Amino acid sequence: MSVTPEKKAPGVRVSGLSVVYRTSAGELPAISGIDLDLVPGTITGVVGESGSGKSTLALSLLNAVQPPGRISAGSVEIDGLGDVVKLRGEELRKARGRHIGYVFQAAQNSLNPLKTVGKQLLDLGRSHDVADLRGLVREAKDLLGRMGMDGARVLDSHQHELSGGMRQRVGIMLALVLNAHLVVLDEPTTALDMITQATILRIVREVHEERGLTTLVITHDLGVVAEVADRLAVMYGGQVVEQGPTMEVLGAPRHPYTQGLLRAIPRLVGDIDEATALPGRPPTLGTIPERGCVFRDRCVLRMDVCETEKPPVVSLGASIALCHAVEAAADRDGRADIPRAGGLQEVVGAQGATGVHEVRGEQP
Ligand SMILES: Nc1ncnc2c1ncn2[C@@H]1O[C@H](COP(=O)(O)OP(=O)(O)OP(=O)(O)O)[C@@H](O)[C@H]1O
Ligand code: SF4
Ligand SMILES: [Mg+2]
Repeated sequence: MSVTPEKKAPGVRVSGLSVVYRTSAGELPAISGIDLDLVPGTITGVVGESGSGKSTLALSLLNAVQPPGRISAGSVEIDGLGDVVKLRGEELRKARGRHIGYVFQAAQNSLNPLKTVGKQLLDLGRSHDVADLRGLVREAKDLLGRMGMDGARVLDSHQHELSGGMRQRVGIMLALVLNAHLVVLDEPTTALDMITQATILRIVREVHEERGLTTLVITHDLGVVAEVADRLAVMYGGQVVEQGPTMEVLGAPRHPYTQGLLRAIPRLVGDIDEATALPGRPPTLGTIPERGCVFRDRCVLRMDVCETEKPPVVSLGASIALCHAVEAAADRDGRADIPRAGGLQEVVGAQGATGVHEVRGEQP
């Protein structure tokens, strides 16, 4: 194998994807009927509160949902690979790493404690039939160096000799080193301080552009998304409730949940009291409503129809929102805007004041 970068970003089409986990109360859905396209060559950010199904979605892209979970419906079509939900055994193992690079959540704990990082790198290369192992090591050192580490020293180290943040960067290196063209990063920088986090994500963005990748980044942090992602998917209760170009979703959020998330960001400039926490809690596996809208218990715009009818998919410009109120606004005014507060300026205001983020945008 050559590690020479070639530009061939794959498109990914997630259709009707559902995953259930077996519990004492039976099989319960963690994500339901998700439709999401990853546009070739773009970075898609996935945000949402804890338990909304972000990691379950990421694992599904690799067909890596483990028991007690299983993919119960849908497909994940990746250009050049086909439907990964149908891949099994050796085919699947080869696809992971070589075609799909990934960092699982809590990757800082996933290194083998008994082997040096370098040994694990060579194992990875051999298991994917990399002929030029020296080239692979060179590539690894280069990536580690770009992330501010002494590559040779890190490759010579065991897990316990590295800090959480260093391990996280090793995880990112391992996701990129085989030159996969689809990269899935689940909370890749949580163990890092704000400044290092911004630096690492900038490097992820650089490598993404140099190599022509398609990338999915999961994070809790809307500021991180505003910084790195071209497109944004907002998850709630196992569904993608709003998706579209990042500037559009953050600049003109339509779904009441996206609006609530933006309102909840404390501003570091201006009046900190302007931030309003989203009341209530997100549903758990056992409390996601089977009918109607998953967000209705916390929604100020809730209507009778939200109790019983699944929200319609409403297309607005280049974005999509699943919401009865958005549809009603579009029918009434010919526009899909509903009363709102919050927007891109608040995200930029919140993060930009730290000097970490450099996003520029105008609120429409
Ligand atoms: N192995 C499992 N067994 C049972 N339920 C699970 C399992 N893994 C996840 N779940 C449930 O599935 C739902 C989605 O979990 P998931 O980890 O995908 O959420 P997440 O958005 O990644 O959350 P976080 O931000 O905390 O990482 C949650 O209700 C979670 O409790
Ligand atoms: S569908 Fe209804 S409950 Fe759900 S977000 Fe829209 S208005 Fe609120
Ligand atoms: Mg997660």
